[in-house]
Amino acid sequence: MAAKTKSVWFCQNCGVESAKWVGKCPSCNEWNTFVEEVVTKTKSATQNIVGSQDNVRNQPQKISDISASEEKRYNTLNNELNRVLGGGLVPGSLVLIGGEPGIGKSTLALQIALGLTNYKTLYVSGEESAQQIKLRANRINIDNDNCLIVSETAMERIFTHIKNTTPDIVVIDSIQTLATERIESAAGSVSQIRDCTSQLLQFAKQSAVPVLLIGHITKDGSLAGPKILEHMVDTVLQFEGDQNHLYRILRATKNRFGSTSEMGIYEMQNTGLQEVSNPSELLLSQNSNDLSGTAISAAIEGMRPFLIEIQALVSSAAYGTPQRSSTGFDLRRMNMLLAVLEKRAGFRLSTKDVFLNIAGGIKVNDPAIDLAVIIAVLSSSTDIAIPREVCFAGEIGLSGEIRPISRIEQRISEAEKLGFRQIFIPQHNAKGLNSDKYKIKIHLVGKVGEVFQQLFK
Ligand code: TYD
Ligand code: MG
Repeated sequence: MAAKTKSVWFCQNCGVESAKWVGKCPSCNEWNTFVEEVVTKTKSATQNIVGSQDNVRNQPQKISDISASEEKRYNTLNNELNRVLGGGLVPGSLVLIGGEPGIGKSTLALQIALGLTNYKTLYVSGEESAQQIKLRANRINIDNDNCLIVSETAMERIFTHIKNTTPDIVVIDSIQTLATERIESAAGSVSQIRDCTSQLLQFAKQSAVPVLLIGHITKDGSLAGPKILEHMVDTVLQFEGDQNHLYRILRATKNRFGSTSEMGIYEMQNTGLQEVSNPSELLLSQNSNDLSGTAISAAIEGMRPFLIEIQALVSSAAYGTPQRSSTGFDLRRMNMLLAVLEKRAGFRLSTKDVFLNIAGGIKVNDPAIDLAVIIAVLSSSTDIAIPREVCFAGEIGLSGEIRPISRIEQRISEAEKLGFRQIFIPQHNAKGLNSDKYKIKIHLVGKVGEVFQQLFK
């Protein structure tokens, strides 16, 4: 087999190929991202993809003839993960788990592998020795003789292990450590990542064995390696969280087999990642005193309602330009809400520093938390505490109106379940709402100004 060697330049950001070095990537417009890599093309490398025997069997067929029974899914015994995946691991799917170093990717992957007691799993680690993995498994404390561990980075040998052990599920930690002999450049380079992923993809599709890939993340938060890595896989899961907080959030940013609005919440403990099935209890701080500057919002992420505490601190600006900072909430949206308060409700905040924080270190995208943000800001600004038994849900429009929100009944039920006595919701959500069903007192509000009046009348 004659091997042809050539030198190619790859954009480390988007993976685009070029015959010579260029300063600015013509595809993604990033500067200074081109790196030279030596590529060896053997005949078999191209043959695998193009000359597959399956092409003959796979004929075009009418869409009505294709049977679309719900695919069988592997239940991972990890409810949070099952939900984020859209109901379990799909056979033959390639799932990428990305996250910052130390966030718990390896722990999560090992827990999944050990938790699938009814299936044979192969956990391939290119980062840790078998002993290190054993130590981690001891902490997690699940016994599973069906889970095989191997420390390996060469793609070809990994496939030999797969052939010898015929696993039902394969876990690879991490894609950046793999290297195939077909390509000469170093592990972690664009061409290595691209080729190894495409080999794994081919394997997954042909054998219907799901493959879980762990991927590193760069400083700016995107997955390391070319963007095409994300295009190639079926599902991209982001594992995020604050190093200083115990909570970890698992989100799907791409999912061919389910919704991307789901999120799973875990808590990192001494014994590995524990699922948080009732996030509200954890996300509400256990403070029983009424403090000014906090308001509780009935939010929804994905399919799940939960209550979350918004904290605000408003103080006179020490310097000329007031500071605005926010954690867990979009800063531009906060500035918009402050402008609405100023213009529509007559609160003077332009000379104040405003700091906003969502308790628990999580990020919430639900627009219904707007109302609680505004209330927290006003509460801090006036130094009037909001009673702990009250919560809020509503989106704020530019004219200061409180706009209707989705799935109001779920939010009310969750608030009631957690012992809240009053909830403020948009007037427009009243239609079709049977408020007699609930013990919690429902306040309907149409404008920002009305909320304070009703709270303290
Ligand atoms: P790890 O899975 O190695 O992260 P990643 O693969 O994303 O780099 O986990 C890193 C952290 O988790 C590590 O700092 C220790 C902590 N940890 C626990 O707190 N409890 C545990 O049971 C385990 C296994 C890890
Ligand atoms: Mg790791």
